[in-house]
Amino acid sequence: MIERKIEAIVHICDMAELSEEDQQLVEAAKKATEGSYAPYSKFNVGAAARLKSGIIVPGANQENAAYPSGLCAERTALFAAGAQYPDQPVIALAIAARKGKRFLPKPVSPCGACRQVISGVEERFGIPIRILLYGTDGILVSEGITPLLPLRFVDGDMSV
Ligand code: THU
Repeated sequence: MIERKIEAIVHICDMAELSEEDQQLVEAAKKATEGSYAPYSKFNVGAAARLKSGIIVPGANQENAAYPSGLCAERTALFAAGAQYPDQPVIALAIAARKGKRFLPKPVSPCGACRQVISGVEERFGIPIRILLYGTDGILVSEGITPLLPLRFVDGDMSV
């Protein structure tokens, strides 16, 4: 049996350590939480996707009485970006979450389905997406989805 070690390198930093563009994207994700519709979980999530052209597309979680019919903030933002700017690669994605007025201290972690969709957008354009997970104690930065989704399933896995 072969044992393989999988390494994931991410960075934790504070706002001041981010570039001006990334700070702006994190602020857009925080602002996007205002569009959250979360009467069931009362967990308000915002996301902001930066396109190659610099355009920022916001998204927020949208819930439904039939729970699985709702959608996370990340996918709302990425699908809106794809629908409105189909030729524009996404280069960065920031995510923020709050309960009531308080943003979470720990960086918010995207669910598995959102990680898979982020992976799909990377594959589509062939560009890694810088992911910024906001928390009041620090921002987790991942250069691309791979550290958050090792051994991911991609198009190539379907061809022998
Ligand atoms: N949620 C997101 O929008 N993004 C995440 O990264 C985690 C979870 C939403 C889905 C649901 O509306 C609520 O948060 C509770 O799971």
